Amino acid sequence: MTSEPFDYAAAIRTIPDYPAKGVMFRDITTLLGNPRAFRRTIDELVQPWAGAKIDKVAGIEARGFIIGGAVAHQLSAGFVPIRKKGKLPFETIGMDYALEYGQDRIEIHVDAVEKGERVILVDDLIATGGTAEAAIKLLHETGVKVEAACFIVDLPALGGADKLRALGVAVRTLVAFDGH
Ligand code: PRP
Ligand code: MG
Repeated sequence: MTSEPFDYAAAIRTIPDYPAKGVMFRDITTLLGNPRAFRRTIDELVQPWAGAKIDKVAGIEARGFIIGGAVAHQLSAGFVPIRKKGKLPFETIGMDYALEYGQDRIEIHVDAVEKGERVILVDDLIATGGTAEAAIKLLHETGVKVEAACFIVDLPALGGADKLRALGVAVRTLVAFDGH
């Protein structure tokens, strides 16, 4: 991988007032569709763990599956889908988390990870950190070690990355945007 800086912000499309007025939506489909940008993203995300023994990469539904699958392949690790409630066919364990209005639940299969495994959590974006925090708590309950949480986009004003660091998890992000 080249050490030249890459302009991730330019590869991501920003859509004002979507899905609600005042929200700047960071659309990663333009990055995913750009071969050079997609490869660079995966290469840079995994860079601290090149050659490390990572057992599993856990990706959060839905956009975390796209990034997480590629990261798992690159690290020769297994992939664990963290799904929204009711989607997995086998026995599950889950974790509830608060949304702006109401709550939601994420789940994994009971045999998706084994105690003592080294796991990296992946999603496309961290905002409030509510989803990733629930994912980390869920993984910790199974006895695995969450080595790090990796995201393409950070929205630091919303405090998500700090929330994860408070759980003792290293956070890796490639680009930060101001505001929401
Ligand atoms: C978005 C994003 C992250 C999450 C971040 O997913 O892809 O998963 O929100 O928000 P948080 O840090 O405040 O928890 P969303 O739930 O919109 O769904 P999707 O990935 O299935 O499109
Ligand atoms: Mg998501």
